[in-house]
Amino acid sequence: MEVKLLDLTRQYDSISQEVEKAVCEQMRSGMFIGGKAVTDFEKEFAQFIGVKHAISVNSGTDALVIAMKALGIKEGDEVITTPFTFFATAETIAAVGAVPVFVDIEEDTYNIDPDKIEEKITDKTRAILPVHIFGQPAAMKRIQEIADKHHLLVIEDACQAVGASIGNQMIGSFGDAACFSFFPTKNLGAFGDGGMITTNDDETAIVCRAFKEHGMAQNGAKARYILEGVEDELAGTVSPDGLYNPYKYYNYLIGFNSRLDALQARVLSIKLKHLKEYNENRTKIAEFYEKELGNIEGIITPKAAKELTPVWHQYAFRCNHKDEMGNFLASKGVGSAAFYPVPLHLQKAFINLGYKEGDLPIAEKITKQTVCLPIFPELKQEELDYVVKCIKEFFEK
Ligand SMILES: Cc1ncc(COP(=O)(O)O)c(C=O)c1O
Repeated sequence: MEVKLLDLTRQYDSISQEVEKAVCEQMRSGMFIGGKAVTDFEKEFAQFIGVKHAISVNSGTDALVIAMKALGIKEGDEVITTPFTFFATAETIAAVGAVPVFVDIEEDTYNIDPDKIEEKITDKTRAILPVHIFGQPAAMKRIQEIADKHHLLVIEDACQAVGASIGNQMIGSFGDAACFSFFPTKNLGAFGDGGMITTNDDETAIVCRAFKEHGMAQNGAKARYILEGVEDELAGTVSPDGLYNPYKYYNYLIGFNSRLDALQARVLSIKLKHLKEYNENRTKIAEFYEKELGNIEGIITPKAAKELTPVWHQYAFRCNHKDEMGNFLASKGVGSAAFYPVPLHLQKAFINLGYKEGDLPIAEKITKQTVCLPIFPELKQEELDYVVKCIKEFFEK
């Protein structure tokens, strides 16, 4: 039997009629950038997360860059984050000119260890950037308390955690801003790149919108006022409702072109309606793996703390023979992955930061142990039985 790590065709098959109808309608409309498809999806997403604003962008990476810039993180600032994440988390900190400061992780959740944050705070620290890795919520209450005590910003990297929650509160509604990715493999995946910033702060939302579109037009003027206190020279002198809107060609800030395509917004609106069910299926699979694998000697299964509702973007267990396990599973037709094999403090691109092996021992240990199993919502029971059978066979050998 073959069980892929991820098979996106199954999800597509289940919604193809609805998606093809919507995509064709959108193509016939001639509206490819912005418009109702995008604003509708932003509203739906904001409502889903329970925040005032959702600002769509081109990717999770852009969401992080734009959110940090909008919150004023700049050259020379330090941003505290986790080394156990996808590269973009820390890459974007460096991209805005700041310095990523890595804090070791918790063994159980693989998330940043709140007990180790305070010792890394200096007078240059501006923000804490927790990641909800593999869909497991980070310890947001503790992190927010530390941030409040030291007057720091909190930016959530929620790229892997759409739909996760702590108690009744959704991930993506905790910090000053949160960033999501709609990369196709994510729990809510587009048919290409896409991302979103969420925030409850009106001014942050205005500045994010300005940065994502060349700092232009009325919104650019408002954002410049928020950031620099400069009044809008055009205010009251032109009619923005006229045939020709002169604002459109005034640019007030240096920004980006980072928009979510209308076609992607249509696809994402449809998938958002199914997200709860998709995430519930992932949870059932995680529970099945826990039941079957939780007592095997040699395996440490991932556990979610009591009040947390994870969304199982990945199911990553730990064992001391991860390469042999991966090869064995591959020989049996079972796809697996080893996220993340290199902790970010030891990445070549961050060599200048001066970290060395042994600095963050838990992250270093866990990167040597994780095996990710298939956990997409459309997996069939016989496939799950087969995956479990293969793992048991490995340990019997
Ligand atoms: C934790 C994390 N942060 C950031 C990103 C970047 O998102 P994107 O690939 O949409 O740029 C990803 C996903 O790829 C991610 O998993």
